[in-house]
Order: sequence, then structure tokens, then C-alpha cells
Amino acid sequence: MAEILHRVGIDLGERSYPILIGTGLLQAAASFTTCPKAAQAVIVTNTTVAPLYAAALQAALAGHYAQVRQVVLPDGEAFKDWATLNQIFDSLLENGCDRKTVLFALGGGVIGDMTGFAAASYMRGVPFVQIPTTLLSQVDSSVGGKTAINHPKGKNMIGAFYQPRLVLCDLDSLATLPARELSAGLAEVIKYGPIADMAFFTWLEQHVDALRQQDRATLAQAVKRSVEIKAWVVGQDEKESGLRAILNFGHTFGHAIEAGMGYGNWLHGEGVGAGMVMAAHLSQRLGLVDAHFVQRLTQLIDRAGLPTRGPVLDTQDNAGAYLAHMRVDKKAEAGDIRFVLIDGPGKAVVRSAPDALVREVINACCAGG
Ligand code: NAD
Ligand code: GLY
Repeated sequence: MAEILHRVGIDLGERSYPILIGTGLLQAAASFTTCPKAAQAVIVTNTTVAPLYAAALQAALAGHYAQVRQVVLPDGEAFKDWATLNQIFDSLLENGCDRKTVLFALGGGVIGDMTGFAAASYMRGVPFVQIPTTLLSQVDSSVGGKTAINHPKGKNMIGAFYQPRLVLCDLDSLATLPARELSAGLAEVIKYGPIADMAFFTWLEQHVDALRQQDRATLAQAVKRSVEIKAWVVGQDEKESGLRAILNFGHTFGHAIEAGMGYGNWLHGEGVGAGMVMAAHLSQRLGLVDAHFVQRLTQLIDRAGLPTRGPVLDTQDNAGAYLAHMRVDKKAEAGDIRFVLIDGPGKAVVRSAPDALVREVINACCAGG
């Protein structure tokens, strides 16, 4: 039976939408009564998620749409690219999908980001719904309208801001998630503490074990608080002209790790985990936080099952390799790398830092360093 445990709103004027958190949601026709009307619905998913949940979703949508099709993509960050995106367009065109067709993203952040970008650009924009099935996508990527694919030279470099009409977080879907992926999601949960809410950080210190064991009520609370913070930030700065950048705490180093290791070798959340430790050390060296805070954050990341040290990207000049990747980060301005740093626990600031200091941090925070 479907049960909505929490309902969070994101206030974006005419682009506002609800985020529903609960159980039994994706197989319930009632979950979709407010979705845009159309003749066709298309579920975009991947080879891992399709056998688990696509049939149930298809049956639920059949009550609302005359035709419900599936596009099943290959699984993995390495497929978040032009060629795979084009498979969505091929299918939409081959099946005569018009500009009212509603796309349903069923999967993790990769599927959500790609489906959102496809929806933003197919016939200059069709409606889409996010049904995130990983913890990471429930607490972060499905909310806020960032859609993208990767470029070999940089992560999420090609994309658009495009909001979904509804986000449906079905906690039941997390039951099949591998433990490593659950931990990766916890990185994006943890980040909300240092940037916005240290009471939530303390709560996470008390509940991280229950989260890893998938205690239902604890998970629901973590998803709810994460989404509330994200909605609060995005509601003030939808297109990242300022405040929204704080959501990228740990991501500048993390994206360098992901790109430098080859997409898919380190999970996004793993890069963010080690990246938050590096950003915390940089904050400490700049006199913004003390050693105690860095230790607390490092311990929580470790207890979440995440790496706390970065990998070596180049045995000759590791710091140089990180810096080269970080210069193509979207926050960089004229080659000047902008870091999200912690300016006292619970408050983030976006600023640059001297290369020499960044090199020191990378050397101190990487495996074997
Ligand atoms: P993912 O989409 O690759 O999913 C992780 C793995 O879990 C995949 O193999 C997937 O097939 C599998 N999976 C998904 N749901 C499952 C389930 N219920 N049971 C079993 N397996 C399941 O990775 P992710 O961590 O969800 O998302 C990472 C992506 O999100 C990155 O590309 C990142 O850039 C992006 N992201 C975007 C935003 C944003 O604001 N748009 C924010 C954070 C991250
Ligand atoms: N995950 C960062 C953002 O949505 O802005």
C-alpha cells in the first residue's frame, strides 16, 4: 500500500513542484494523478533498474496514459554522454512522441540528469517526472532542475536548468541498492550539515549506523531534511548565480577525482566524500574552521563507509593533475578555481585559495601523502 510519509515543496513560482517521500509510491496509480496529461508516457531507465521497477511503474502509468513505452539505456556514469542521450531522442522520434509526451526518469542520478536534459531539449521542452531510486538521487540530484551529460574534459559540462513536474522518492526502491551506492548517497546527505545545519550533522553522527542498515523511519527523516535544505537553497537561487554553489561542497575536488580516475571508477559520492575532507582541510588552513571540526567531519565520512583520502591521479605531479581538472570546474572564473569552504560549522563560503595552499592540502590528503 502506498504511503506518503513526508511532502516537501520547492517554491519556484510557476515552476514549483512537490517532492513526495514515502513507500509503495512508484507502483501506485494514485501517485501520478497530478502529472501532466498526454497520450504518451516514456519511462527512461537503465539495464539494472528496468528489471527491478519498470514493469510496476509501467502498470501504474497505464491508468493515466494510452501508451507507455520504455527506453532502457546502458548503466553507468561512463554512458552519461552524447551517444547515449541520443538513444532517448531516437526512441522518442521513432515512436512519434509529440511535445506533450511526459518523460519519467526511473533510476539514479545518471538517469535523472540525462532524462532531464532530454526533456529540456526534445522539441524545445517536454514535461518530465523524477522517480529517483538511489539515495543520492533522492536527497540531491532529482531536486532542483540541474540536468546534464559529461564531456571527456569535464563533468556535467553540457546541460540545462530544467525543473521536473514532480519528484517521487519511494524508499522501498532503496532495498535493492548495493551498500557501496548507499554510502555514496550518504556523502550528499552529510554535506548539508557543514553548509547549512549543524544540528542535522549532529543527528547524522547519532544515526549514521541506522542509515547504513536502512532503518526506514531514519531514512525517511534523512531524505526529508536533505530535500528541505536543497529546496530552500534552490528556491533562492535556481540558476546558481550565488548561493546555490554551496551545494557543491566537496565537489571541486570530487569532480577532479571522478574525471581523473575515469568516470565510473570512483562513484560520485565517493569523490564528494574525499573531496569534503580536502575542502575542510583547506578551510582549516585558511583559518575558517578548527581541527576539531575537520576531525568530526572526517570521522562521519569514514563511518558512512566513504573514502576520506583522495586517489593519486599522477605519480609525477599529483597536485598538478588535480589543479588541471579543477580549472575546468564550472565554478572556475577565468581559470581561477572557486572552492566551497566552511566558514565556521554550518556556514559555507565560495572563494579562491592560493595554489600553493591547495597543493599542500592535496599532498596531505591523498593516498600515501
Ligand atoms: P547512478 O545513477 O549511476 O546509480 C548508481 C548505481 O545504482 C547504478 O548502477 C544504477 O543502475 C544502480 N541503481 C539505481 N537504483 C537502484 C536500485 N534501486 N537498486 C539497485 N541498483 C540501483 O548514480 P547516483 O549516485 O544515483 O547519481 C550520480 C550521478 O548524479 C552523477 O552523474 C552526478 O553527477 C549526478 N548528480 C547530479 C546532481 C544534480 O543536481 N543534478 C546532484 C548530484 C549528483
Ligand atoms: N547538486 C548541486 C546542485 O544541485 O546545485
